[in-house]
Amino acid sequence: MNVLIVFAHPEPKSLNGAVKDVAVSTLKEDGNQVKVSDLYGMEFKAALDQDDFLNRENSGRFNPIMEQLHAAQTDSFASDIQEEMDKIKWADLIIFQFPIWYGGMPAIMKGWTERVFASGFSSDMFQGKIYDKGLMKGKKAMLSFTTGGPEENYYMDIPDKDPAKLAPVITENLKFSGFEVLKPFVIFGVIMLSEEDAEKHFEEYRKLLREL
Ligand SMILES: Cc1cc2nc3c(=O)[nH]c(=O)nc-3n(C[C@H](O)[C@H](O)[C@H](O)COP(=O)(O)O)c2cc1C
Repeated sequence: MNVLIVFAHPEPKSLNGAVKDVAVSTLKEDGNQVKVSDLYGMEFKAALDQDDFLNRENSGRFNPIMEQLHAAQTDSFASDIQEEMDKIKWADLIIFQFPIWYGGMPAIMKGWTERVFASGFSSDMFQGKIYDKGLMKGKKAMLSFTTGGPEENYYMDIPDKDPAKLAPVITENLKFSGFEVLKPFVIFGVIMLSEEDAEKHFEEYRKLLREL
């Protein structure tokens, strides 16, 4: 299996960095091919803007979604976007590794999704290429994230404690593009996490990755 890990943390020695490293080593040991997009390491540009498009359809009023469709038709995305798209085409599974910051992905990763999962590349709602006809059909996606807040805060409105219900907006967007979304891996309440408990989580993650 070809696996792309999209990693968003400014500190490689962070817990998130360690979880990413566990994934890289475990997946490689099991014979998978692994690529990592280390978004901070790459200084990935987070903000979608006019510079993302090398061959504008309309050089007057900037309409992001129409320019994305046009760039997809004319192979004219900026090179940093195109490089990520090539990795996505290669990947069977994309793992998103991140800390929860203000209820979601860090801005650099949110920006990656806005720029790279462009209309015309990941989905095309004008042509009905969404959900089971989405352009990412056949690929899998998985979220792996850590939270500062304790588990009980996150499951307050989820009595069955199903982690698949934790990030409904992100999950819905991935499904919209045709991804099969796997159950996320979550480490809750990491502010006070001991090394011993971290190791237990790493072992749990290794087991989950081996069962994929
Ligand atoms: C800017 C920022 C926003 C945060 N927002 C949240 C939040 O909304 N919910 C939460 O549970 N923890 C939040 N946290 C705590 C982080 O999730 C926590 O520090 C992180 O998961 C620890 O992983 P790390 O050791 O790899 O940095 C936030 C931390 C930062 C720096």
